[in-house]
Amino acid sequence: MSRIGVFDSGLGGYSIAYAIFKQYPLQDIVFLADQINVPYGNKEENELEDILYSRMSWFNRQGICDVILACNTSSVLKLERVLKDFPNMRLHRIIDLTVDQIKGQNLHEVIVLATKVTVESHAYQKRINVISPKTKVFEIALVDLAKLIEDLVDDHQLDLELDRHLSGFKHRKLPFIMGCTHYPLIEAKLNDYLKGKGYSSIRPILDRNDLFSVGSGNFVCYTTGNSDRLKRQIAVLFKHKQAILHIDI
Ligand code: DGL
Repeated sequence: MSRIGVFDSGLGGYSIAYAIFKQYPLQDIVFLADQINVPYGNKEENELEDILYSRMSWFNRQGICDVILACNTSSVLKLERVLKDFPNMRLHRIIDLTVDQIKGQNLHEVIVLATKVTVESHAYQKRINVISPKTKVFEIALVDLAKLIEDLVDDHQLDLELDRHLSGFKHRKLPFIMGCTHYPLIEAKLNDYLKGKGYSSIRPILDRNDLFSVGSGNFVCYTTGNSDRLKRQIAVLFKHKQAILHIDI
């Protein structure tokens, strides 16, 4: 395996691509943030299928066969057309990996925080039922949270969104799964609000060492949105400078 693609609607995927870059510094990575379309989580599935088709065909044209869908919302789609037209591509979805962290823990209850599309698919509920059938699952759609994170809003606006959807769980110390890759960017706030143990997708992706190999360590970041905006978002959230290229697809 050589270059690997990492894909998301925006910053959530960057946190995964950057974590891969730090853990596997010789891996060649092409990250694509589809920020012209962010947020994905409130769109119709048909529209998302079309968007994903064009984005995956872009990776295919770059000669990249392995793409990590660092996006739960994309991971719940069927993507039949992509798989049919690009049989050489392997799309690595993240939901099962994320859920499998709670295997064997006999959790009585767990909260799944995700986008509307992900919650409506019940992909988390289904997987949890398979690996931990006795666990009661609360799937909560935080409908505007990914967009608020992209907009770098202040704490007060984040609190309003959490109060709108999560007030019944405040300080109840229930474990929670961050079923959207944007949410670990405000993990401290979620921990403070819920007070339970949080699970994200980052660790289980890094543990998939079969996906990674030794190359030249090129880490290239593209956005379909505004490259200066993504540079600024990364500077604020990750405290470093990242070169970003804009592409029209
Ligand atoms: N970060 C993505 C996810 O994991 C998408 C968020 C969005 O664009 O709504 O679901």
